[in-house]
Amino acid sequence: MDGTWNTIVEPFRVKSVEPLRFTTRAERAAALEVAGWNLFGLAAHDVIIDLLTDSGTAAMSTDQWAALMRGDESYAGSESFARFETVVRDLTGFTHVIPTHQGRAAERILFQATTSAGDVVVNNTHFDTTRANVEFQGAEARDLLCAEGDDLQLVAPFKGNLDVDALEATIAAVGAGRMPLVMVTVTNNSGGGQPVSLANLRAVRAVCDRHGVPLFLDAARFAENAWFVRLREPGQADRTAREIAEEMFRLADGCTISLKKDGLGNIGGVLALDDGDVAERCRNLLILTEGFPTYGGLAGRDLEALAQGLLEVTDHDYLAYRVRTAEYLAELAWAAGVPTIRPPGGHAVYLDAAALLPHIPAHELPAQALACELYLEGGVRGVEIGTLMFGRPSPDGPDSAAPHELVRLALPRRVYTQSHVDYVGEVIARVAARADSIRGYRVVSQPEWLRHFTARLEPLTEETP
Ligand code: F0G
Repeated sequence: MDGTWNTIVEPFRVKSVEPLRFTTRAERAAALEVAGWNLFGLAAHDVIIDLLTDSGTAAMSTDQWAALMRGDESYAGSESFARFETVVRDLTGFTHVIPTHQGRAAERILFQATTSAGDVVVNNTHFDTTRANVEFQGAEARDLLCAEGDDLQLVAPFKGNLDVDALEATIAAVGAGRMPLVMVTVTNNSGGGQPVSLANLRAVRAVCDRHGVPLFLDAARFAENAWFVRLREPGQADRTAREIAEEMFRLADGCTISLKKDGLGNIGGVLALDDGDVAERCRNLLILTEGFPTYGGLAGRDLEALAQGLLEVTDHDYLAYRVRTAEYLAELAWAAGVPTIRPPGGHAVYLDAAALLPHIPAHELPAQALACELYLEGGVRGVEIGTLMFGRPSPDGPDSAAPHELVRLALPRRVYTQSHVDYVGEVIARVAARADSIRGYRVVSQPEWLRHFTARLEPLTEETP
């Protein structure tokens, strides 16, 4: 479709439907209370529009479902692996293709094979599991995001870029010998789904080359990144998203990919790289916990569906619809007076709860309050990225505050239609209209690590001391 239409016409029609269950506000209030006001504790059955994540939640195409039937379930040397390997090699150019059950397994194997205590790994922004896998090796995970990336409201084309000067300074201070690899996350999920330019990747590549440090991509959303490059980077408008993605990978020495995102799969990941010695170590670790190197914890049918997904995901009609949908949802939020990270990312809209609810201090969890209200109002589930996720409890004072108070509304791929998104916009507007009366929360019980998944909360009332 050309760009002159206002309706976002999904570039697919529906063959199999999954009913939504419309709950009442009273039912949702009861479900949320049982869940300890933690949206992770809800049964999916009690959610109307689930925007918790874009990971593993995609709808597969007819060609993917057909490919499932071709799955060769041989333990070793299956044809499905051969097909998967060819597709990943064509896309990335990397020699060694190691399938894993999801992205974090690829990360675990890569860092276990390359990284030791005292090392420093640099990233634009480490995704949580990437950071955890670096830290698990006793190494430091350091984020070197460009300055624009920290300014939520600033409109700039490539707010996911890595700060190249800071990278130089880090290598000078730490020494290349203690830096097993540099990683760039495309798009930068933890920084609002913001893209990285080819120019930035080339500059990072040049620094890495000068110091002999390998460059890896965390390429979970490589296709969305390539689309933003095509839209925004001078000189790229005439290239296809596939060509741009191929160049992104060829600027690196290897990659980890969660194929639950731009692989259009419900499960799966891959580690791909050129260095034969590192690949050998990684394959040995793979056999230990994931499986034989030609299936890596996946069924042959999964490999088939993923190979097909990787071919589909750079389709221009799909990417235009995808990115426009996120932008459209952001426009609905702005129209309702709710600020978001700007520009909107490729896979999600990040609502700024601190701006909407200035009367709720960080330790009373404004982003969690907003996430709960969206659920109570209309059964929309997002995820808090604020003090519940990143703040630290303190024994004798309020929790330390996270840098931002955000609610991420992530869009599953090819699942919801424009009318679903309109509905989410209406829910946001109704909540925003009564923002002044929304109150905060307190934590009643929490585990020591990653508390946002299992903490139990309680709404604050006028009587709460
Ligand atoms: N890297 C990035 C940038 C991610 O966003 C994720 C997952 C991973 C790695 C890990 O991949 O889940 O397959 O093990 N992100 C999901 C999310 C969970 O909701 O953003 P995985």
